[in-house]
This record gives sequence, structure tokens and C-alpha cells, in this order.
Amino acid sequence: MGTNIKYFLFPWFVLILFSTFSKTLCLDQTYDAFSKCLQNQTISPANISTILYSAQTPNFNSVLLAYIRNLRFTLPTTPKPQLIITPLNPSQVSAAVICARNLGHQVKIRSGGHDYDGLSYTSEHPFIILDMQNLRRIDVDPKAGTAYVEAGSTLGELYYRIHEKTNTFGFPAGVCPTVGVGGHISGGGYGNMIRKYGLSVDHIIDATVVDAQGKILNRKTMGDDLFWAIRGGGGASFAVVVSFTFNLVPVPETVTVFNIERYLSDNATELVYKWQTLMQDIDYNLFIRLLIQPVNDPIIKNKKTGRATFIALYLGNSKDLFSLLSTKFPELGLKKEDCLEMSWINSALYWANFDNTTKPEVLLNRTFTANYNKRKSDYVTTPITTAGLNLMWQKLITLEQVGMVFNSYGGRMNEIPATDTPMPHRKGSFYKIQYSDSWKEPGTAANDKHLGLIRELHTFMTPYVSKNPRGAYLNYRDIDIGVSHNWTYQQGEVYGRQYFMGNFDRLVKVKTLVDPTNFFRNEQSIPVQK
Ligand SMILES: Cc1cc2nc3c(=O)[nH]c(=O)nc-3n(C[C@H](O)[C@H](O)[C@H](O)COP(=O)(O)OP(=O)(O)OC[C@H]3O[C@@H](n4cnc5c(N)ncnc54)[C@H](O)[C@@H]3O)c2cc1C
Ligand SMILES: *[C@@H]1O[C@H](CO)[C@@H](O)[C@H](O)[C@H]1NC(C)=O
Ligand SMILES: *[C@@H]1O[C@H](CO)[C@@H](O)[C@H](O)[C@H]1NC(C)=O
Ligand SMILES: *[C@@H]1O[C@H](CO)[C@@H](O)[C@H](O)[C@H]1NC(C)=O
Ligand SMILES: *[C@@H]1O[C@H](CO)[C@@H](O)[C@H](O)[C@H]1NC(C)=O
Ligand SMILES: *[C@@H]1O[C@H](CO)[C@@H](O)[C@H](O)[C@H]1NC(C)=O
Ligand SMILES: *[C@@H]1O[C@H](CO)[C@@H](O)[C@H](O)[C@H]1NC(C)=O
Repeated sequence: MGTNIKYFLFPWFVLILFSTFSKTLCLDQTYDAFSKCLQNQTISPANISTILYSAQTPNFNSVLLAYIRNLRFTLPTTPKPQLIITPLNPSQVSAAVICARNLGHQVKIRSGGHDYDGLSYTSEHPFIILDMQNLRRIDVDPKAGTAYVEAGSTLGELYYRIHEKTNTFGFPAGVCPTVGVGGHISGGGYGNMIRKYGLSVDHIIDATVVDAQGKILNRKTMGDDLFWAIRGGGGASFAVVVSFTFNLVPVPETVTVFNIERYLSDNATELVYKWQTLMQDIDYNLFIRLLIQPVNDPIIKNKKTGRATFIALYLGNSKDLFSLLSTKFPELGLKKEDCLEMSWINSALYWANFDNTTKPEVLLNRTFTANYNKRKSDYVTTPITTAGLNLMWQKLITLEQVGMVFNSYGGRMNEIPATDTPMPHRKGSFYKIQYSDSWKEPGTAANDKHLGLIRELHTFMTPYVSKNPRGAYLNYRDIDIGVSHNWTYQQGEVYGRQYFMGNFDRLVKVKTLVDPTNFFRNEQSIPVQK
């Protein structure tokens, strides 16, 4: 018996040893070739050892995991990069692009790693990661009213640096402080000042990028087409964004927030119905987001009900906000004590769910507690009837798990032409829906269950949302709406039209012009001309 086991174990042992050995050899060859190329690009070996990682070098896993914000992509089966490179300056970014090109690597560009479907750090094809985490300079110039921010910075760092210099300027971008500038702004970028100031990309005045040839370009040298494309078309199809420069926007020294919950028994349906159109033209200083969720009934035990949470930012004081809503939306039943006055920077903390004892320094914290999650998006271009809303609540209550976020558009968004930047969902979009499911149970069975639930809700909503094509928001990455396996135009057009509608055609033209060999590609990149 004993000898039999030995006999059977031996070849396996040799096989495992051999495969580990050949893997090591192969990966080291990949590493060595890249390292040699970087040296030829005049980066010293000592410098290379601090920025280039393979599975055989220390810290590979921690560098990889540091910016994975969705546990669905931390499984042993999740495809891993052959190399990770973390450049320290623009010329190292350029060297990385040149070497990846020369050696035939597919590059995934990662800044904050918040991509909802992990496209910045995983792929079905062999790939390397160009990770921007070390490029984080931020210069705020309150006199000029501008800021320069590198792609690896987070939104929290950006808001903090603005607050350090001035309390009369802010920047219209996302709500979650750990989101990365590189992906967020090149994908459009919206937040709670969207009705007053539009998207992040509406304020960009310059950018530094590294193109597919490794050239470092600014607004003038990249030309109008590329400068247009990287303001919402997704950087990853066109170039590596190194930095953006933008105009700050004025904010008052006192802003007002509230967060109030209304259950179905509080006429939530009628309130949501009215909110849909109210947000088109009401005072641009007001933004109201709705969380639409299935919850336990607050009064009747073991009964499920629906709840709409109204979360507001008003760029003004509570007296003006209270009088505005008492006139325009009395049904909401807002009370004076619901309205909290604070500075703009504290409103950023409030919206990020920190309590009122938290100091702004928390915005510099890059640590993120990840869960398993999936997001999808839609645009509502015709207000949903109360009958439709009632069916929606019933569906949510049946599914139990999935929630929705309604983000009001209107205001300034109605005034900016849809062709100004690649993000086409402007006038005519009453609001955007984010479908949201987050869970803690590990395993593929749980993943499949939750992916099934959120897809079911998305399918259920089909009659109530935009069609031909059904719109989607690039920054709410959703590979369910189509992927490129081999980067044909036909595959790219499927998701491309949903994200960009008519602007897709110009994006394809720019892509064909600046990157005809499709060096910058991912599962949802812009294809070259057919
Ligand atoms: C918790 C959370 C909250 C969010 N809140 C908001 C919100 O309020 N508003 C909103 O609009 N969106 C929001 N999002 C979505 C977010 O804007 C997108 O996920 C965005 O793309 C993230 O940017 P990133 O740099 O962190 O992501 P990454 O995963 O690093 O990148 C996302 C995409 O951009 C590409 N990319 C990244 N860096 C560069 C670069 N330097 N050059 C070229 N291409 C690059 C990547 O290759 C990938 O395709 C949120 C996401 C999460 C997870
Ligand atoms: C080294 O760099 C030079 C100049 O950038 C380039 O022409 C040459 O092809 C490179 N050689 C290798 C082996 O990469
Ligand atoms: C490269 O290494 C040298 C010597 O260690 C160091 O002084 C220099 O700052 C490094 N350069 C970069 C860009 O990291
Ligand atoms: C709900 O609406 C009805 C009819 O408009 C009204 O009588 C009732 O007071 C409202 N309930 C609440 C809690 O606002
Ligand atoms: C902070 O919040 C608590 C409870 O939510 C409240 O009692 C307190 O008054 C608040 N403090 C300030 C300074 O707003
Ligand atoms: C940073 O954030 C993480 C995750 O939320 C938290 O655990 C940690 O305590 C925070 N650190 C500081 C210094 O705030
Ligand atoms: C591209 O992919 C599609 C579907 O995935 C397949 O039908 C087609 O043959 C592929 N084309 C090439 C050129 O590989």
C-alpha cells in the first residue's frame, strides 16, 4: 500500500515541480524582457526594481489587491496580470507604453480600480497592468480658480486639497472619496452638483496623456479630437491619461443637506412620481438623489415594504431651501430640523456617510472595505406612471436584495449639447437609474444568485426606460450589455451605442486616427473603423 502511494505520488510531484519551474522560467523571461526594454528606455535597474512586479517578485499580490474594489475579482480563478508596472512620472509611463507595444502585451490601465466589472485589472486575454497609483500630484490654484490633478489621485484627495486652499471653490465629481480620477473623469464623472454644473468633463481645460506611440501630449499637441474623446469616452480606448487640469466651480461658504425617508405608507409613490419632473427646472442649486429600496415595514412585523430616501445637497442656506421646497414640493413634508447647514467639504463627508465628528483628513484615506457587488444603469426619458412605479415596488419587494438609486438630471444638463463631450445623455434624460446589489457571501453560487437578481430587475424595467438604443453610463461599467472578444466593429457597436449613442461614430473616428492598431483595448473599448 505504502509503496503504491509513493509510486503514484512520484510522477505527480515531478510534474508539479516541472510546471512550477517552467512557469517561473516563463514569467521571469517576461519580466526580464520588459526590464531590458525599460533599461534601454534609460530607466536604471535600481529604479526598475521599484516599479516592476511579476508573480515571482515580492509584493506582487499586495500591489495587485491594493486597488481591487470588488471581491468578485479576487478569486483564485480570476485571471492575473503577467506584470504590473507602477510608474513614478510621465516619462516612465511613456517607457511602459513603448515596451508593452514592442513586446506585444495587452495593457490594462488602472487608476483607482473602481471599475464595477474589473476591466482595469483583469482580462480573458494575457495582459499586464499599468497602474497609476504613484502619480498623485495635485496643485490647486485658488487665484486662477484652477487645479491640476494626476490620474492616480482619488476624488477624496482632490476635494481635500481644494478645501486646504479655499472654501469658496469646489469641483463637481463623484460622491465616493476613493474613486480614482483617471477612470472617473475620463468616463464623464457626475456627482451632487450635476444640476448646477454638469459633469466633471464640462470643466476640463487641459490634459496630459501618453499616446499609443509613447508620446507625451498636452491639449495643444494631442489636438481637438483626442481631447474631446478623453472627456467621457473612457481614457482606456485612446491613451493613458496622466493628468487633467480644470476650472474649479464656485460654492457658497454654507451649503445645506438633508436625508429623509418616506415609506410606501407615507405616499412614497406619489413623491417619487412628482420628483421625476420637478427636478427638470427647479433651482439649479438643488440636487436630490433617491434611494429606492425594499425594506422591513417600520410598523407591521414580518412585512416587507418599499422606501424612498431623499438625499439632498443645496448650494445655499437652509432657510432658502426650506422655503423653496415648501412652495414647490410641500407633499415631501420637509421639516426645518431636517436641514443641516455646513461647509461644502463637510457636505462631501456627509454624502460619503461619515458622521459629523469626522475630520476632512479622512478623505485622504485610500483604504476601502470591499464587498461583492454588481451595478447596472438606465436612463429614464419618459416619467414612469404611478401604476408603473407600483409594479416596480412589487418587483423590488419580491426580489428583496436589489436596490436602485435615482439620480436627478435636468438643470444645467439640459443646456449642454449632447455632442459637446462623448457622454450623450443630457437633455431628455430626466434621471439616471443605478441598479445595485452588494453581498458578503463568498462563492460562485452566491455570485450567480445575485447577478441573476439584478439582471431580472433590469429586464423588468425595460418598458420604463430609454430604448433604441437603451442608454447606459460608461462609468457604471456593465459587461452584460456586450463585450468585444476579438475587437470587431460589430461587437464594439453593441455596447458603444448604449454608452455613447450618436457620439459613438466620432469616437470610432478618433480611435482610428490615434490608435489604428488598437493597442489600447479592453473588453468594452471603442473599435477601429470597420
Ligand atoms: C464605490 C463607488 C462609488 C462610485 N461613485 C460614483 C459617482 O458618484 N459618480 C460617478 O460618475 N461614478 C461613480 N462610480 C463609478 C466610477 O466613476 C467608475 O468606476 C470609474 O471608472 C472609476 O475610476 P477608477 O480610476 O477608480 O477606476 P479604474 O478601475 O482604475 O478604471 C476604470 C476604467 O478607466 C480606465 N482608466 C483608469 N485610469 C485611466 C487612465 N489614467 N488613463 C486611461 N484610462 C484609465 C480603466 O482602464 C478602466 O477602463 C463609483 C464607483 C464605485 C466603486
Ligand atoms: C532601444 O532604444 C532605441 C531608441 O529608443 C530603439 O531604437 C531600439 O530599438 C531599442 N532597442 C531595443 C532592443 O529595445
Ligand atoms: C532612481 O534611482 C535613484 C537612485 O536610487 C534615485 O535617486 C532616483 O530618485 C530614482 N528615480 C526615480 C524617478 O525614482
Ligand atoms: C397621502 O396622500 C393622501 C391623499 O393625497 C393624503 O390625504 C395623506 O395625508 C397623505 N399621507 C401622508 C403621510 O402624507
Ligand atoms: C452631530 O450629530 C448628532 C447626532 O446625529 C447631533 O446630535 C449633533 O447635534 C450633531 N452635531 C453637530 C455639530 O452638528
Ligand atoms: C481608513 O479606512 C478604513 C476602511 O474604511 C478603516 O478601516 C480605517 O480605520 C481608516 N483609517 C483611518 C486612519 O481613518
Ligand atoms: C470574433 O468573435 C465572434 C463571436 O465571439 C466570432 O463569431 C468571430 O468568428 C470572431 N472573429 C474573428 C476574426 O476571430
